[in-house]
Amino acid sequence: MTTAHPPIPKAELHLHIEGTLEPELAFALAERNGVELPYASEEELRRAYSFSDLQSFLDLYYALMAVLRTEEDFADLANAYLARAKEQGVRHAEIFFDPQAHTARGVPIGTVIEGLGRALDAAQETYGITTRLIMCFLRDESAESALETFEAARPYLDRITAVGLDSAEVGNPPSKFREVYALAREAGLKCVAHAGEEGPPAYVWEALDVLGVDRVDHGVRCMEDADLVARLAVEQVPLTVCPLSNVRLRVIDDLADHPLPAMLDAGLLVTVNSDDPAYFGGYAHDNFTAVRDALRLDQETLRTLARNSFTASFLDEATRAAYLKEVDAHGR
Ligand code: HPA
Ligand code: ZN
Repeated sequence: MTTAHPPIPKAELHLHIEGTLEPELAFALAERNGVELPYASEEELRRAYSFSDLQSFLDLYYALMAVLRTEEDFADLANAYLARAKEQGVRHAEIFFDPQAHTARGVPIGTVIEGLGRALDAAQETYGITTRLIMCFLRDESAESALETFEAARPYLDRITAVGLDSAEVGNPPSKFREVYALAREAGLKCVAHAGEEGPPAYVWEALDVLGVDRVDHGVRCMEDADLVARLAVEQVPLTVCPLSNVRLRVIDDLADHPLPAMLDAGLLVTVNSDDPAYFGGYAHDNFTAVRDALRLDQETLRTLARNSFTASFLDEATRAAYLKEVDAHGR
């Protein structure tokens, strides 16, 4: 049997690997590791996936990570994601992980990176997906903790392409992390940061001017600041937008009101991504079809979004060009 309409080839650039932990795997890992979950069943856990804001999601997201303990657990988590990503037309994935969420529970950073690395090393052969790893600092932890985390990761930097910044945004501006970003850049890493999700446009300016980011994660609140939009458009700074996440975390009231079309009209280099797909109701292609339907996007706009995802990636030029050719050939 052949698939009538294979999903358009795309890169996923905003994906927290811990946010791909499906209830089924959470319960399996809890059993394997003898961890007690405060939910009686997968159904009961799923019923808790109703969020009022970013923090209400983060509370559950961090709590469920208790089941991730061994290298094998992290490899299983990444493999489960990659299998789903393949079905969604993902050809390249740049994957966030939150080392401090694990080291704080006594899991060594090497266990996390080696476990994820084991799955990613086989991803090209097993799933036909190229990958990169992005190490995120938790912005509601201290600047010193981020610096300690970066030093602990030094032996593994050959596995890491970029650093990022995530967790509770408001009250934790990018400038808090000036020093660790300078070190990361010195070490040859790329830099990204969540900014302008719940936080104000000023945080996007700081991510650009203080941290020197190569991409902005989310960034949807840039639309409140015309000067910022002009800057992002002129410099073609990529924005990794996550539509289903924005609705589930109440950043946007309704998908039909999402600023994505306005962002495209403003000439921004926008991409569509899934953020924490196990929690927000869809993986990469699910986000594409959701915005297509809610915002009545035509085929050419979807193709632009797919092209943007590779343009905005940290791929080498030859691989990027090959993927862009796949996008152009899709459905023709
Ligand atoms: N925002 C901030 N931190 C996060 C998110 C998000 O959407 N997902 C996982 N950590
Ligand atoms: Zn995110």
